[in-house]
Amino acid sequence: MTSLSSAPRPVTARPSPPLTGTVTVPGDKSISHRALIFGGLATGTTQISGLLEGEDVLRTAAALRQLGAEVVKNPDGRWQVTGNGVGALAEPDEVLDMGNSGTAARLLMGLVASSPFTTFFMGDASLHKRPMSRVNIPLEEMGAAITSRSGGRFPLAVTGRALMPIDYELPVASAQVKSAILLAALDTPGLTRVTEPKPTRDHTENMLRHFGADVTVTDLETGGRLIEYQGQQELTAADIIVPGDPSSAAFIAVAVAILPGSDVTITNVGLNPLRDGLFITLQEMGADIKIMNPREQGGEKVGDIRIKGGTLQGVEVPPERAPTMIDEFPVLFVAASFAKGTTVMRGLHELRVKESDRIAAMAAGLKACGVDFEELDDGLIIRGTGSAPRGGGHIETHLDHRIAMSFLIMGLATQEPVTVDDGRVMETSFPGFVDLMGTLGGLIAPDNQP
Ligand code: S3P
Repeated sequence: MTSLSSAPRPVTARPSPPLTGTVTVPGDKSISHRALIFGGLATGTTQISGLLEGEDVLRTAAALRQLGAEVVKNPDGRWQVTGNGVGALAEPDEVLDMGNSGTAARLLMGLVASSPFTTFFMGDASLHKRPMSRVNIPLEEMGAAITSRSGGRFPLAVTGRALMPIDYELPVASAQVKSAILLAALDTPGLTRVTEPKPTRDHTENMLRHFGADVTVTDLETGGRLIEYQGQQELTAADIIVPGDPSSAAFIAVAVAILPGSDVTITNVGLNPLRDGLFITLQEMGADIKIMNPREQGGEKVGDIRIKGGTLQGVEVPPERAPTMIDEFPVLFVAASFAKGTTVMRGLHELRVKESDRIAAMAAGLKACGVDFEELDDGLIIRGTGSAPRGGGHIETHLDHRIAMSFLIMGLATQEPVTVDDGRVMETSFPGFVDLMGTLGGLIAPDNQP
């Protein structure tokens, strides 16, 4: 695992020719975390193909080893995970370091909450700012004891014990919180019920089924969902193929959409309907996007995406779509900056508590690049002219991979180059981003290279 103890590495994107080619993106981050966690819990050995080897996921792998699972990478590139069964975690000798990963942090807090020992958690400066009470509150209601910094924040310690099932309504639409509760419910006798106000990514539910457990999901009249899980079911090892991450494909899709004449195919992308909001929005903006070879792989929808560059129109993005594209708003802000007309993106309070305050970080960068916009509490209104913004900004990434990649995509099509202050953060979710963009013709390079 690389660490951010080395010096920041500025990276610059320059105006580029149309992008062309066929690529695959690294494995889905959400599915990769869960594949390791469920593999590490199930009895038997799970082989995982296509695991994302980004820093966030490697944190989960390291933590599972500390909790007693065997996690190894095979010479053929697949990862092999052997667990000891539900309820058989070992007490870690050391603090679990979650680095930059909110998903690793929140899911693993749920995982250890039913184990009779104390687990200490820490992370990087970004993670130490993020709200954890959304997880602490339901886990405490189930019976775990959590000692944290003020506001429920990291570093913190979870003292697990035999838990009680709960009937819990999530105050925010968060797949991480839902998953933390479901993971705590695995070794908890009785029926745990979680109601989400809007459906969020359902990879945990899909993976429970994949490992042989029963989980009931009911669509509610309110537009939300009820998820019910009867605790203490057995999980049996089951091989997993991780599809390409739609959240990583999103960066390429926007790059292609804003560079007229581009024509790129991204193969084997996960197309879970709770993750595809960005592609739908780009289509509404007039982008030429086609899904080819739709198929199903290990309980998840996948397909190939062909995108051609052209012109984009401003749109109003329905706020209820936000959970299906929550990580893609930074790069959608970039697309909107090139569109003709006004794009309204609201209902995005959650963006303020991601790896950075993504509304503020994007607003600062868009201003530095000459984009006309209005910042709201819960989103941005961007007024595009239909021609390329000036660019030329020097962007602060705030330890946020998606801020870095969004502005590097922007710099491929602005009039002047765009520089981000630290490219190391891209290792979090998209190792090889710069090289992959280079194979398509994108001019992105660390500042000490031509
Ligand atoms: C994730 C859920 C989302 C998302 C994150 C991954 C997951 O977070 O932003 O990148 O894997 O469950 P929230 O649950 O906080 O919305």
